[in-house]
Parts: sequence; C-alpha cells; structure tokens
Amino acid sequence: MTLIRIAVDGYASTGKSTLAKRLASSLGFLYIDTGAMYRMVALYAIRQGWAAPDAINATAINASLDKVNLAFARDAGGKNRAILNGEDVEEAIRTMEVSRVVSSVSSLVPVRRRLVAQQQAMGQSQSLVMDGRDIGTVVFPDAELKLFVTADADVRATRRFAEMESANPGAVSLAEVKANLLQRDQEDRERLDSPLLQAQDALVLDNSSVSPDELFEQAMRLVPSR
Ligand code: DC
Repeated sequence: MTLIRIAVDGYASTGKSTLAKRLASSLGFLYIDTGAMYRMVALYAIRQGWAAPDAINATAINASLDKVNLAFARDAGGKNRAILNGEDVEEAIRTMEVSRVVSSVSSLVPVRRRLVAQQQAMGQSQSLVMDGRDIGTVVFPDAELKLFVTADADVRATRRFAEMESANPGAVSLAEVKANLLQRDQEDRERLDSPLLQAQDALVLDNSSVSPDELFEQAMRLVPSR
C-alpha cells in the first residue's frame, strides 16, 4: 500500500488546521495537529509551575517527558480532542496562557526530539495530513505533498480573535492576539532546532483573501494522483 503524507506548514493562525482537517476527512486520511502536541506539553509544564512567560524551567520539563502521555480522540461529532495523560484538554490548550509559553516550550530540543519521533511513527503505517511548522522540513522531508500556508497578519489575528471570543468572550483583546501571533512567529522562526521554514519543494497557498472552500479546492488540485 502506498502511503501519502501531506505536510501543511505555516505561521500561526493561517488556517492550516482547518485546511488540513478538511483534506484529511475528504481523502480518508488521519489528521494530526502537531501544534496541539506542543500545546499539551506546555499545559503540563504550566500546571507543574515550570512555565510562565518569562520563566521556563527547561531542566524540569526535559526530565519529565516520560510522564507526559499525548493522544488524540474523537468526540461523537467526529471532532478532534487532545488528550493529555487521559484527560481531555482540547479547550484548555487553546487559551492565551498556553499560547504565551508554547513557543518557548517547543524550542526545547528534548521536547522536539520526542514529539518529532512520535509524529514520524504515526506516518509509518497510514496516510495522513499533518499540520505544524516543521512537517515538510524535519518530520517528513520526503512527504508526497508539502503545502505552506500564508496569510496577512491582520487577517490571521482577526480570525484567531473570533475563535477565542466564541470560546471565552472578553478574555483577550484583538491587539493582544495579534501581538502574541507575531511574537510566536518570530520565536518559531528564530529557534535553532527545526525552525519554521518553508521547505524548498513546498507549494505556497495564500489564505489572505480566499474562502475556506476556495483554499480547500486549490489544495485538492495539488494532491498527487487525483
Ligand atoms: O499550530 P499552533 O499555533 O497551535 O502551534 C502552537 C505552537 O507550537 C507554535 O507557536 C509553535 C509550536 N509548534 C512547533 O514548534 N512545531 C510544530 N510542528 C507545531 C507547533
């Protein structure tokens, strides 16, 4: 059986996950949100008192990775749920508290080694669509299709703000959301280990002014052997 791995990389809140989920469901492939995996490690670290915006206890986090079990489940409606040590944390990992520390936690080399190995193992036996920052460069450098999604920063901030408002009205401002996105982009781009980088053979999709349907159609036309 031929496995197809589709890598969907790009900056924060470009609409990668929406696109990747839709591709996976229409192709019948597994969908993996690698950002959720880094967010679960960040949430674990926050709860242990090892991660705050200006203070990351790298030694403690790196030493505890054996105790962090990451999994995914689906709810009755088929929606993805992130499961940390048996607990459904799908909502808890999407808060600003987690967004503030996740780039620092995800820059730790032992964290990346561990999560990248888990992600590579998932692609050994099944076709999948995986979204993240380093999927086409590090996790699956030989992926059958690599997409790199971009979008204007204001469009991204507005989209993310709307999501956060509907989950928790009044918790954050649009300006705070935009500042966090730009800060994470910079940290993700500048980290030494597997930085956010467009793979040379990635195809760029600009999601600034197209509808989700149009973006999906553009991506589907690029899927090999369709
Ligand atoms: O996709 P997201 O915004 O939920 O990801 C959260 C953070 O996780 C992101 O700011 C950087 C990190 N991340 C990463 O370093 N590598 C990945 N493959 C996916 C996410």
